Amino acid sequence: MSKTQEIAERFDRYVMHTYAQQLALVEGRGTRVWDADGKVYLDFIAGISVQNVGHCHPRVVAAVQEQVARLMHVSNLYYTENQARLAERLSGLALGGKCFFCNSGAEANEALIKLARLWGHDAGKYEVICMRNSFHGRTLATAAATGQAKIQKGFEPMPEGFAHADLNDLASVEALVNDKTVAVLVEAIQGEGGVIPAADEFMQGLRKLCDDRGLLMLCDEVQCGLGRTGDWFAFQASGVEPDAFSLAKSLGSGYPIGAAVSGPKLADVFTPGRHASTFGGTPPACAAALATLDVIEEEGLLAKARRAGDLLREGLEGFIELFPHVVSVRGRGLMLGLELDQPVKELVERMRDVGLLTVATAETVVRMLPPLNVKDNELEEALDIIHDCLAEIHGESAPAEAEAEAEAVEAAPEADAAEEPAPEEAAAGEAAAPEQEEAKAE
Ligand SMILES: Cc1ncc(COP(=O)(O)O)c(C=O)c1O
Repeated sequence: MSKTQEIAERFDRYVMHTYAQQLALVEGRGTRVWDADGKVYLDFIAGISVQNVGHCHPRVVAAVQEQVARLMHVSNLYYTENQARLAERLSGLALGGKCFFCNSGAEANEALIKLARLWGHDAGKYEVICMRNSFHGRTLATAAATGQAKIQKGFEPMPEGFAHADLNDLASVEALVNDKTVAVLVEAIQGEGGVIPAADEFMQGLRKLCDDRGLLMLCDEVQCGLGRTGDWFAFQASGVEPDAFSLAKSLGSGYPIGAAVSGPKLADVFTPGRHASTFGGTPPACAAALATLDVIEEEGLLAKARRAGDLLREGLEGFIELFPHVVSVRGRGLMLGLELDQPVKELVERMRDVGLLTVATAETVVRMLPPLNVKDNELEEALDIIHDCLAEIHGESAPAEAEAEAEAVEAAPEADAAEEPAPEEAAAGEAAAPEQEEAKAE
């Protein structure tokens, strides 16, 4: 029995089946992960947008190691220095208000919803207008906010106070506003919904609508935030600022932490006893987040995400000409979706087998969320794998010139490519695991 089978057997026996796992991953470094049997993969999921600075970034590892050896947890009954520093940093990045810390994206959105309800309480306002096809989490309130029936099915009755409009259709939002409406909640790019960007005019229209009607504008930046789209926060591309937004996923580079970040209007709505979380903003979680922000800033990862996103997008767009079933490329920066006119499950599984991890979303979209410091040769390698798997499964349709053109836009230095294990080696399980000292000591 392989090590992977051994882990899978124990897992399936004792862990509730909320996911359908296939690989057992044991080590990660930058854009690569290794499975329990030594096979290496190029990771274009990055923990579903958690590893924005790459797996086990030495700066984040060192910050957590140093902090866990000094103070792990004392509860929020006491001031802790890292939490104060992190709130100051986030407030300086956007909105200039205050933060509430928790452990996950669902909890961060729950905090936004509670903030909005408390803010509107005396005026009898509590209803939040969300978007169809959105995703905000799996707690009961955030599942109710989520605009996908499949997330709510079987858990009814859902908590009340949520209505759903269509993304990019301002009139559909306006039509839902009533005297109970307190806020509008939107992802600037819907991730789980299929990598669907909100148009700039829609975001600007929402801001104006909220201002005109006395509503709060709330953004869910859990997946699209912290550099993923080439801006610190995805809402910034449209030039608008919400009244508050949620963060989680990449904030701690894998150390669980979520945050509700507010502007001045909501900064003092929570008062002692109104909201809380035992593990919210522990010293190590905040150390991980502070180190993550340092890495994004010092390594220029916003610009890198834009540049790498352009390269990946150009390469993927070349496949529209080449393959009859590829219909579009969506998203911004390094949050990209390759849309087919049919389910992508087989394609995603084939790519995984030859060494590239991506994730199917909304059934027909291959979602890609590589680390923001992905190298050019890794992009090239991934594009080659996607090309070969599309050709294998769907066959090519375009004349030879179109392919030559597509290859030209995938330009990446050949020399770089030689430094990394080739996908064939990955598939054969020949690539070595990262050196122990590197992985553990840095
Ligand atoms: C946009 C968005 N919001 C909220 C969540 C929920 O985050 P968590 O799983 O950390 O609760 C997710 C998770 O995928 C997400 O993509």
